[in-house]
Amino acid sequence: MKLIDLPGDVPRRGARVIALLAVPCCLAQFTPREKPTGPWMDKSLSPDRRAELVMREMTRDEKIQLVHGAGMVGIGKSDPVIVRSNGGGGFVPGIPRLGLPDLNMNDSSVGSGGGARKGRYSTAMPSSLALASGWDANLARDVGALIGRELADQGYNVSLGGGVNITREPRNGRNFEYLGEDPILAGNLVAAWIQGVQSEGVIGDIKHYAVNDQETGRYFTNAIIGKRELRETDLLAFEIGVKRGKPGMVMCSYNLINGAWACENEYTLNQVLKKEWGFPGWVISDWFGTHSTVKAANAGLDQEQPDGRYFSDALKKAIDGGEVSAARLDDMVHRILRTEFAAGIVDDPRPSRVPDIFRGFSVAQRAAEETMVLLKNQDARLPLNAASLRSIAVIGGHADAGVLSGGGSAQVDAAGGNAVPDPNLKNDILSIFSQVVFHRSSPLRAIREAAPSVKVTFDPGTDPAAAAAAAKAADVAIVFVLQHTSEGKDQASLALPDGQDALVERVAAANPRTIVVIESGGPVLLPWAGKVSAILEAWYPGIRGGEAIANVLFGTVNPSGKLAVTFPTSDSDLPRATVPAPPGKMPSPLDGLTDARPPFPASYDEGLKVGYKWFDAEKKAPAYPFGFGLSYSTFAYSDLKVTGGNSLAVNFTVRNTSRRAGAEVAQVYLSFPDAANEPPKRLIGWEKIALKPGESRVVSLAVDPLYVSVFDAAAEAWKIVPGEYRVMAGPSSAALPLAAKASLAGAR
Ligand code: BGC
Repeated sequence: MKLIDLPGDVPRRGARVIALLAVPCCLAQFTPREKPTGPWMDKSLSPDRRAELVMREMTRDEKIQLVHGAGMVGIGKSDPVIVRSNGGGGFVPGIPRLGLPDLNMNDSSVGSGGGARKGRYSTAMPSSLALASGWDANLARDVGALIGRELADQGYNVSLGGGVNITREPRNGRNFEYLGEDPILAGNLVAAWIQGVQSEGVIGDIKHYAVNDQETGRYFTNAIIGKRELRETDLLAFEIGVKRGKPGMVMCSYNLINGAWACENEYTLNQVLKKEWGFPGWVISDWFGTHSTVKAANAGLDQEQPDGRYFSDALKKAIDGGEVSAARLDDMVHRILRTEFAAGIVDDPRPSRVPDIFRGFSVAQRAAEETMVLLKNQDARLPLNAASLRSIAVIGGHADAGVLSGGGSAQVDAAGGNAVPDPNLKNDILSIFSQVVFHRSSPLRAIREAAPSVKVTFDPGTDPAAAAAAAKAADVAIVFVLQHTSEGKDQASLALPDGQDALVERVAAANPRTIVVIESGGPVLLPWAGKVSAILEAWYPGIRGGEAIANVLFGTVNPSGKLAVTFPTSDSDLPRATVPAPPGKMPSPLDGLTDARPPFPASYDEGLKVGYKWFDAEKKAPAYPFGFGLSYSTFAYSDLKVTGGNSLAVNFTVRNTSRRAGAEVAQVYLSFPDAANEPPKRLIGWEKIALKPGESRVVSLAVDPLYVSVFDAAAEAWKIVPGEYRVMAGPSSAALPLAAKASLAGAR
């Protein structure tokens, strides 16, 4: 068992991946724990008091040890303690003599990642953007709990998930890891997800704080945005997520925000997060996202990851020199330790065990089924009736093999290996990091099982003429189209790549009963939408995606997802023609040497007008609006009643007017008085309700005052503008049959 020494000139991030792949499995099994004693082990004391008590026993070196990562497995010569690491994305050795556990951190946006390196399985859940399309906090909590449970099963006690950067840039390659374009929806869902993770005794995370809204040049992007705009968009998602979800950690991002690196940004860290929101946990840097010792420590960064370039010896020196106070080091350590006590990882470490794959399958399938969005269903082509069909042609998208997933650190390894292995995959870090991975949940197989008496053929779609012939010979054609996205790069365009539009056109011309299933990381352009009879957006649907798709197509499941992102008709309708990019040669997405290049500005001039707010304000018609999604049921809205004054309450009735049980996401939007100077409308509430045929339900919402507030940048405070508001309710941002006026009193 030998640690691997890597030459200093290997890019650090790259070295990490090579090293992780090369280290033997058995190194991680050893986690020393001494029987802890001392007053801080008294469970009846508060986490803060316990942290105070244990810190009295700690040397300065022990404190320093807690405020930075110990490197990643196999990187560097220095730290033999790294052999204790469980092999995840981050590791901070504990202090056995005081009973303080190692912190074993792992990426977990859609499941516990990187398991293949150790032959460990975890459930691949649908993408986070899929989860957002469920509009269902209970579902988000259940998914978070499943992920937390499997992290613990695999020996991790800290999650690195919780991505909530809003979809300001629809071409962002990481949108699949985030929760859509609306900060109130995203904030509430990430909060529920974090609650789920933490309910399993794992410390939760929210990331990437903040305005890390694109991957292009992500280590150097200087996000330029006004203060009011910042607070009402990107930061609002975090504000809700932090206050409601109470994560143990906040991960600051790579980029700069208005000229200051996010991990040394006095405004976002000290002023807003810690002082204004009262966040008691710790701020952890994104990997190699720390740029200084003194500035970062004094601005509010509490822990550097994944190593100690700035927060080890350099921090000691800064304390000796008086540039960082000893009290600030104590504050960092206190925040980490109080979180450990609060999470229970000191008292009740969870034993490792084999994940319950059956439970995982059931949560993953439910999540996929409840989040797919039916975009079109002309002449009620769906659900398919197996009894009335003789043949189905399934075409393209590797639907014979599996379903697509998103790449990068969120990648959950495919059980049994990639269903569509790339024979030419190079063994370099960049290729492995951004490889296209399919999970072995074949839609073709599931369709065959759903329709055993129907002849179901498969054509790979590589030759449009052959695909068209297959479609022509069948009663129904189902074309699968793909958009792969990954951390580290953005899409040049929302158009589907590799001639898939032409394939759909050819198939649709050959068979009027053509259904398209999309597996995508975010919105895509659907220029052929008018020519096909049905479109189902399945996102990256996870380990049971194939089965979920078949269940929706055949009506075993009634679709109930609604878009958490706007689908435009063209890239030119977006706020920017292209994603802002640095001049010159693009840095590698894995180039972590962040000081090597000067920042470049990304001016987010659309400000408040993110997503549907942009389309509303600019009077551009989207292809499919935010909040939109069809069901096999139909619903009617009536009886809107609103009360204003000091707070806003909204009541209305939704009725299932069909003969099929279904669920509807009923949405409420608000138009502000002119004096507020807001975009035309804002989502302020929703409820997902399951209704039997003919059943009606009253939706009653007491709207959080924050959701009707605007941020007064000069006063640095939220306020409610007095005046007359318009409240609207309905099935999507573009279909709001109910409207009523309400007056709100001003407030701060
Ligand atoms: C990503 C984070 C991730 C970290 C650790 C970074 O490159 O931006 O989201 O948690 O790596 O793997």
